[in-house]
Amino acid sequence: MSIHIGKSPIAYRKGSERKMATTDSLVQISDLRKEYKMGETTVHALRGISLDVAEGEFVAILGQSGSGKTTLLNMISALDTPTSGEVSVQGSVISSMKRDERTRFRRSSIGLVFQFYNLFPTLTALENVEIGIAMKIKHKEEMRNRASKYLELVGILDKANSYPSQMSGGEQQRVAIARGLAKEPPILVLDEPTGNLDAETSEVIWELLHTLNKQTGTTVIAVTHQTSVSKLADRSVFLRSGLIYGISAKNEGE
Ligand SMILES: Nc1ncnc2c1ncn2[C@@H]1O[C@H](COP(=O)(O)OP(=O)(O)OP(=O)(O)O)[C@@H](O)[C@H]1O
Ligand SMILES: [Mg+2]
Repeated sequence: MSIHIGKSPIAYRKGSERKMATTDSLVQISDLRKEYKMGETTVHALRGISLDVAEGEFVAILGQSGSGKTTLLNMISALDTPTSGEVSVQGSVISSMKRDERTRFRRSSIGLVFQFYNLFPTLTALENVEIGIAMKIKHKEEMRNRASKYLELVGILDKANSYPSQMSGGEQQRVAIARGLAKEPPILVLDEPTGNLDAETSEVIWELLHTLNKQTGTTVIAVTHQTSVSKLADRSVFLRSGLIYGISAKNEGE
């Protein structure tokens, strides 16, 4: 059966198999649970998370240490699979994909940025961005142009030939963001991208992410401890003990 509401095609299948998403949300998460078995004990890292993220949205995920933020990001970026529940991205159910299928999905559809940048120390800024798109672009000049374009977008093209050790933390994180964006993924996923930076540099990075989100239309899902990010994000999702206990929209209550 297939129904159309507005512009969004909706497809239903019998049983649990559902290859098509039911709305035009880019990410759909339903009743997501993740348990880690630690010997005799079970850690309930996620205890039933349901959340939809629209295309082009900037969503901040906040919560205390251990509340499940990284676990949730790992499910959205197909780094890990849930114990139960479902995550779909662009209509594909990624939570039930096999490992190599998940790797392929992640390489093509997710830009990942971590707290400690994860740059290769022996590669320059430009080469670090290039390596992120080498799987996608084979032509060397095209790859170089694309990498340069994103270094310019994050404002550090002048550091293209510098090595990570020759750059500040904020500059290294910009390279990591450029690398995440360069493959032009539908979703940029960031786990505490400013956790290692001073307050002023953090603010610059969040402003940059906000601008990039609006300029490129890339959907941004970012974990942070900084409550000030809520002022920039379209929505802020607050986690506690593996559950959502609040969602606030930008400018709410102002
Ligand atoms: N691989 C694992 N094995 C066992 N337990 C885990 C594993 N990963 C996470 N956990 C547990 O799951 C819970 C959620 O962890 P998670 O890393 O998602 O928290 P977080 O919100 O990202 O915390 P932080 O702000 O410190 O990064 C914690 O209790 C943690 O100890
Ligand atoms: Mg974490």
